Amino acid sequence: MNNFQNLCIYFILSFTYSFVICQDIIEGRSQHTSALINDKLYFFGGVTQTTNSSNDVFYIDLSSTFDISTLPFKQVSIGMLVGVNLATCVSSPDNSTIFLIGGRMTSTSTAVYKFDPINLQWTIPMINGFNSSFINRNEIQAAIDSKGKTYILGGTEIKTGNTVGNGNIFYEMNLFDTTSMTWSTLTLPTDVLPRIDYTATLLPTGFIIYLGGITPSNFAKFNDILIFDTKSLSWSNKTASGITIQARYGHSAVLTKNGNIIIFGGASGTKQVSPDLAVLNTNAWIWSIPSNATVNVPPSLTFHTANLYKIYMIIAFGRKTSQVVVKPYNYSNNIYIFNTETYSWVSSFNEVSQGTPTNKGGTSTNQGDLSTDNGNSSTYKIILYVVISIGCIAFLSSLVVYYKKYYRNRTKIEKNLMSEVSDLHDKERYSNRVI
Ligand SMILES: *[C@@H]1O[C@H](CO)[C@@H](O)[C@H](O)[C@H]1NC(C)=O
Ligand SMILES: *[C@@H]1O[C@H](CO)[C@@H](O)[C@H](O)[C@H]1NC(C)=O
Ligand SMILES: *[C@@H]1O[C@H](CO)[C@@H](O)[C@H](O)[C@H]1NC(C)=O
Ligand SMILES: *[C@@H]1O[C@H](CO)[C@@H](O)[C@H](O)[C@H]1NC(C)=O
Ligand SMILES: *[C@@H]1O[C@H](CO)[C@@H](O)[C@H](O)[C@H]1NC(C)=O
Ligand SMILES: *[C@@H]1O[C@H](CO)[C@@H](O)[C@H](O)[C@H]1NC(C)=O
Repeated sequence: MNNFQNLCIYFILSFTYSFVICQDIIEGRSQHTSALINDKLYFFGGVTQTTNSSNDVFYIDLSSTFDISTLPFKQVSIGMLVGVNLATCVSSPDNSTIFLIGGRMTSTSTAVYKFDPINLQWTIPMINGFNSSFINRNEIQAAIDSKGKTYILGGTEIKTGNTVGNGNIFYEMNLFDTTSMTWSTLTLPTDVLPRIDYTATLLPTGFIIYLGGITPSNFAKFNDILIFDTKSLSWSNKTASGITIQARYGHSAVLTKNGNIIIFGGASGTKQVSPDLAVLNTNAWIWSIPSNATVNVPPSLTFHTANLYKIYMIIAFGRKTSQVVVKPYNYSNNIYIFNTETYSWVSSFNEVSQGTPTNKGGTSTNQGDLSTDNGNSSTYKIILYVVISIGCIAFLSSLVVYYKKYYRNRTKIEKNLMSEVSDLHDKERYSNRVI
């Protein structure tokens, strides 16, 4: 009996342990950048409560099933060679490489870093004709085409370490060919204003759609759409109709298969904008609000990221715009998932509901809908949850015992820290865009 009990405790503890270490805790942030490579969504850098330019690299595996309350983040132990925020990144068309481009970097020796997601290695690529005045270019978004050509409009040169301020905006379009590893710079025609904090969405037609952001003269209007043709390297305008989209910066955009661009979030000054979520039909050039959903709706966010994976728009992190009153900002450490077919926000993410049902011979992968499971697997799950819960309680109560020992010391340290932080932020001021 004793042995049996020991065995049980051993299993419970090791189970709990493996359950606990399965996911890494990621600090809330904004101004990070993200890229999809096959089923993995990678995140790089950003500003957090502890640093203005993080060198964090982590990912979430989208081939797994998960609930947004327990996100299976994996931190890549080798961080970036530099800390960076307000950068942009692109995945090569063959999914072998991610290029991290620009941003406020803690080292200004170069502006492009290359990440190999298989071997988890960072290198500095040699780029023919690279224009070193691009170093530290930030508040940009790159678009990459199917041949690996990358287009980067405008941007500013505000230096690393600053999270506020107005800098020069560059009247140029930079072209980085990731296949031939060459760089070139186009100056803009006089009737095209550059931008910062915009979104760039490449359509299958080869047009890049620039939405929102800030030009040297004003906030860009959403009914007056700037378009770059990657085939002729020329610029044009499109007037969009439909509902009025309040001008904003730091929003996100994804393109769905049927040619809709879905924008989310962003801010005007420190304020939340309306509507938070909108759709531009790029066939008819009409703006609309696809959903007035009230369930699982994320907070209003700025400088978050958005990626489209299958039918899901995956929003990650960002500054909680609606709560901005004074620093320290509230940064989200969450992911929010929008189903672009049903136009609803969902709380669980799984392979089965992505329109590719698979029969995996007895093992149910349909965690989103317990009621359609067969009885055996439901019972199994309940037992599993009970075991995990008991294990967690056992594990946590042993932690509590140790934690109590240090409690008094920690309280002291925290008090000191709090007063230092509030001293620091009392000294900060705002500009019209708060980054
Ligand atoms: C690369 O990954 C993306 C994102 O999942 C996927 O859509 C695309 O088909 C992949 N491309 C290749 C060549 O595997
Ligand atoms: C490099 O960039 C600077 C500043 O944007 C620009 O003035 C210059 O013409 C560029 N040089 C080349 C060779 O493109
Ligand atoms: C972060 O940015 C703020 C505002 O620009 C600045 O006051 C602070 O010193 C920066 N912190 C670091 C660690 O660079
Ligand atoms: C875009 O439209 C504006 C007026 O709304 C005009 O001044 C500008 O010349 C146009 N730009 C291009 C590239 O057509
Ligand atoms: C959501 O509400 C707006 C008005 O606030 C309306 O224009 C829009 O059509 C609504 N969208 C849906 C899908 O009901
Ligand atoms: C951050 O969020 C907390 C909890 O929601 C709230 O009490 C606090 O006022 C927020 N801080 C700011 C600066 O908005």
